[in-house]
Amino acid sequence: MRLVIVLLSALLPLCLSHGRDPFAWLYSRQSQGNIFAALQADTTGGECPDVCDCPPTFPSAMYCDGRGLTTMPTFPSRVKYLYLQNNAITAVPDSAMVNATNLVWLILHNNQLTSEAIGKKAFLKLEGLERLYLQHNNLTSVPPNLPRSLRDLRISHNKIEKVTPADLEGMDNLTILYLHDNAVTDMSTSLKALKSLTLLDLSGNKLTKVPEALPEGLHQLYIEFNSIDSLPEGFLGRFTQLQYVRMAHNQLTDKGIPPNTFNVTGLVELDLSFNKLERIPPVSTTLHHLYLQANQIKEFTLGSFCSIVDVTNFSKLQTLRLDGNEISRQDIPSESSLCLRQASTIKV
Ligand SMILES: *[C@@H]1O[C@H](CO)[C@@H](O)[C@H](O)[C@H]1NC(C)=O
Ligand SMILES: *[C@@H]1O[C@H](CO)[C@@H](O)[C@H](O)[C@H]1NC(C)=O
Ligand SMILES: *[C@@H]1O[C@H](CO)[C@@H](O)[C@H](O)[C@H]1NC(C)=O
Ligand SMILES: *[C@@H]1O[C@H](CO)[C@@H](O)[C@H](O)[C@H]1NC(C)=O
Ligand SMILES: *[C@@H]1O[C@H](CO)[C@@H](O)[C@H](O)[C@H]1NC(C)=O
Repeated sequence: MRLVIVLLSALLPLCLSHGRDPFAWLYSRQSQGNIFAALQADTTGGECPDVCDCPPTFPSAMYCDGRGLTTMPTFPSRVKYLYLQNNAITAVPDSAMVNATNLVWLILHNNQLTSEAIGKKAFLKLEGLERLYLQHNNLTSVPPNLPRSLRDLRISHNKIEKVTPADLEGMDNLTILYLHDNAVTDMSTSLKALKSLTLLDLSGNKLTKVPEALPEGLHQLYIEFNSIDSLPEGFLGRFTQLQYVRMAHNQLTDKGIPPNTFNVTGLVELDLSFNKLERIPPVSTTLHHLYLQANQIKEFTLGSFCSIVDVTNFSKLQTLRLDGNEISRQDIPSESSLCLRQASTIKV
C-alpha cells in the first residue's frame, strides 16, 4: 500500500501537536520556501515502530539509533538499511530477524551484545547482507553463521580471543575486515579464503606472529599494537597490491626480520615505529613514507635506501622519521641528498 501525504504549510501546527514530531526532518525543506511538499510513505510489508524513524522519501531505511533500546525492535520486511547503533541492545534472538531477508546493511555498533545472546541462526537468512557493524559490543567470538555475502565486516572493540576458519569461510566478497582492539591470540588460517579482502585491521590484539595465509590481494595491512617479534621469510613478497603496512608498537628486532623483507616494490607507506630495531632495514626505492621513530637505531645506513645512486637510481622517499633513536643529524652523510632527493621531511 502506498500512502500519499500532501502537506500544506497551514496543516503544520496540527502535526506538531502530536508530541513526538514525525516530520522534523521536513522543516529544512519548508524553511527553504517549499510550501507544498508531496511525500510518499511506503508502508509495504508492515509499519515502522513508533520508536524508530522511517523517512517516507527513503522507505528502505529504518533509523533506530540512539533511542535507549535494550531489545531489537520489530521491523517491516521492506527494510534494507537498519540503523541500531548507540543503544543498549543486549540480544539478537533468532526470532528478531524473521523479517530480515532484505537487509543489506545492519548497523549495530555500540550496544551491549554478548556472544551468548546472539542466536545461532540470527544471521543465517540474511542472504543479501553486505555490511555488518558490530564494533563496541561485548562479543567474545565472531557470531556463527554470518552471511557469506558480506563485503564489510566491522567487529573491532570487542573481546574476541580467537577467529576460526569456519567463522569467515566462503566470504568471497569480503573486502573490509576490522578486527582491531580485541584480544585475538590466534587467527589460525581463517583469512586464507578471503579472496577479495583489501583492508585488514588487526591492530590492538595479542598476536605474537603474523597470521598465516594472509590474502594476497591486500592493499592495507594494519597490525600495530600486538606482540610480534619476528616475520616469516618472504612475508611481503607474495602480495601484488599491498601499499600500506603498519606494524608500529610491536616487538620487532633486526634478528626477527629476514633480509630484504621490506625491499618490495609497490609499498607506499611502511610504519615500523615503536619497535626494537637497531638498523634501518633495506627498503625499495619506490617507498614514499617510512616511519622508524622510537626504535634503537644507532647508524644511518644510506645503503638501506639506495644501493646505487645516479640520475635514474634514487629513492622516492618523501617522509623519513628517525626521531627517538640513537642517532643525530650529524650521523646523516652529506651524499644522502642525492639518494634521498625527494624527501621533504626527514626527522631525526
Ligand atoms: C515482521 O513483519 C510483520 C509485518 O509484515 C510485523 O507484523 C512483525 O511484527 C514483524 N516481525 C518482526 C520480528 O520484525
Ligand atoms: C559489557 O562490557 C561493559 C564493559 O566491560 C560492562 O560494563 C557491561 O556490563 C557489559 N555488558 C554486558 C551485557 O555484558
Ligand atoms: C559476490 O558478489 C557477486 C556479485 O555481486 C554475487 O553474484 C555473488 O553471489 C556474491 N557472493 C556471495 C558469496 O554472496
Ligand atoms: C632491493 O632489491 C633489488 C633487487 O630486487 C636490489 O637491486 C636492491 O639493491 C635492493 N635494495 C636494497 C636497499 O638493498
Ligand atoms: C640504475 O639505472 C640504470 C640506468 O641508468 C638501470 O639500468 C639499472 O637497472 C638501475 N639499477 C637499479 C638497481 O635500479
